Amino acid sequence: VADRHAAVPPSGLGAFRNTPDTDPSVRSNREAAAAALLRVPGSRLGIDTIEAARIATPEALDAVLAETRAAGEAWGARSADERAAILHRAGEELENRREAFWELMAAEAGKTLDQADPEVSEAIDFAHFYAEQARRLEAVDGASFEPSALTLVTPPWNFPVAIPAGGALAALAAGSAVLLKPAALTQRCGALIAECLWSAGVPREVLRLIQVGEKAHGAALVGDPRLDRVILTGAFETAELFRSFRPDLPLLAETSGKNAIIITPSADLDLAVKDVVASAFGHAGQKCSAASLVVLVGSVAHSRRFRTQLRDAVSSLTVGYPSDATTQMGPIIEPASGKLLEGLTTLGVGERWLIEPHPLDDSGRLWSPGVREGVRLGSAYHRTEYFGPILGIMTAATLSEAIAIVNEVDYGLTSGLHSLDAAEIGEWLDTVQAGNLYVNRGITGAIVQRQPFGGWKRSAVGAGAKAGGPNYLIGLGSWRSREATA
Ligand code: ALA
Repeated sequence: VADRHAAVPPSGLGAFRNTPDTDPSVRSNREAAAAALLRVPGSRLGIDTIEAARIATPEALDAVLAETRAAGEAWGARSADERAAILHRAGEELENRREAFWELMAAEAGKTLDQADPEVSEAIDFAHFYAEQARRLEAVDGASFEPSALTLVTPPWNFPVAIPAGGALAALAAGSAVLLKPAALTQRCGALIAECLWSAGVPREVLRLIQVGEKAHGAALVGDPRLDRVILTGAFETAELFRSFRPDLPLLAETSGKNAIIITPSADLDLAVKDVVASAFGHAGQKCSAASLVVLVGSVAHSRRFRTQLRDAVSSLTVGYPSDATTQMGPIIEPASGKLLEGLTTLGVGERWLIEPHPLDDSGRLWSPGVREGVRLGSAYHRTEYFGPILGIMTAATLSEAIAIVNEVDYGLTSGLHSLDAAEIGEWLDTVQAGNLYVNRGITGAIVQRQPFGGWKRSAVGAGAKAGGPNYLIGLGSWRSREATA
């Protein structure tokens, strides 16, 4: 993986190690997983614990902002060591609730266990990684870091644990209080994260779980100058909307993607098929990082072998609900509508289905995966993010042409290349426009510290530092030279 923004972590950085996922070869782990899945239908876990402050009046907004800001000033005055110790404990609390998170992610977001488990590991990684990064902020000669007092964290529903936990933990590590507004569809996941952080010693007034009554209150919240920072993960349009509420808003936003994997004739095609399927259809394609396009180069474009293998692999995916342990691809979060429904049911000029998607029950949520061929440069499918289980195939005569096709889209989040040719890999690394570049690997599932995550172009708005990387906390405060402070 090439990460062209991240600095090399300085030597002597604390002993951060990525948290392992659950080992399915251990019988007790398999039993715990089976028990969690049995609880999913009708799960009530967490319902009693949601203690979100509801912002439904200007007075309520005023009180939450004033109280949390004051608490943030006290939190930021604590030493980095003290905050780091609490964050490391938060990592342990999150690990202790791993099975509860599996259950909630399946119940609220339709996540299958193979997707949910690494997401819990990622949340735990954020706790330990940012704890160590907080200490670095105090170790810079000649300048002191002034934390923000108050950060709003507004995560999406598609990663209902790793993204809210990551945003809240980063801001807390940097010394800021947090207003955490979980996505409306995944509030119980958000509530359980808050429980874990409170149990670890984050004061309740420093981390406040909130819900916003109406759009007007959301606009008033985002537009309030008492907010120092907003960490947003969501659609590019949401970032623009936030900016319309307050043009000078200090925003750290990771936004939309339209991501492609290029496959050249030198590639290991078996590996490429496996990585394309996982990247396109993991969590039913509902990831900003998902592969929505493959671009086949030269002889691969005409190869029956690749199409046959892809068709067989995709059509053999078991689609179902996450409570069934045989499910490989779960449901979409809400009944398909709008843009996604169009993508699942309509072909553009010159396009045909390699595999046509179908609804599998009356819910509107369960769709078989779809693959379309013949996608044309500049077409709606080429440029649009659909956020569901559909993949499009494009073709190019040369690698340079394929890269131009990929760079033509407005976004630049993740990008993949399957090639065993060093010159091709070099050309692609030098010219493709995306934040996270993956060679001979799937393009989802960035790992904390190893693959700091964030985009280019319309995939990032604001500071642009990458989550899970060495520069992220720097964007959560400001720097003053020591002379000016003295
Ligand atoms: N960080 C998530 C991934 O890499 C979005 O898939």
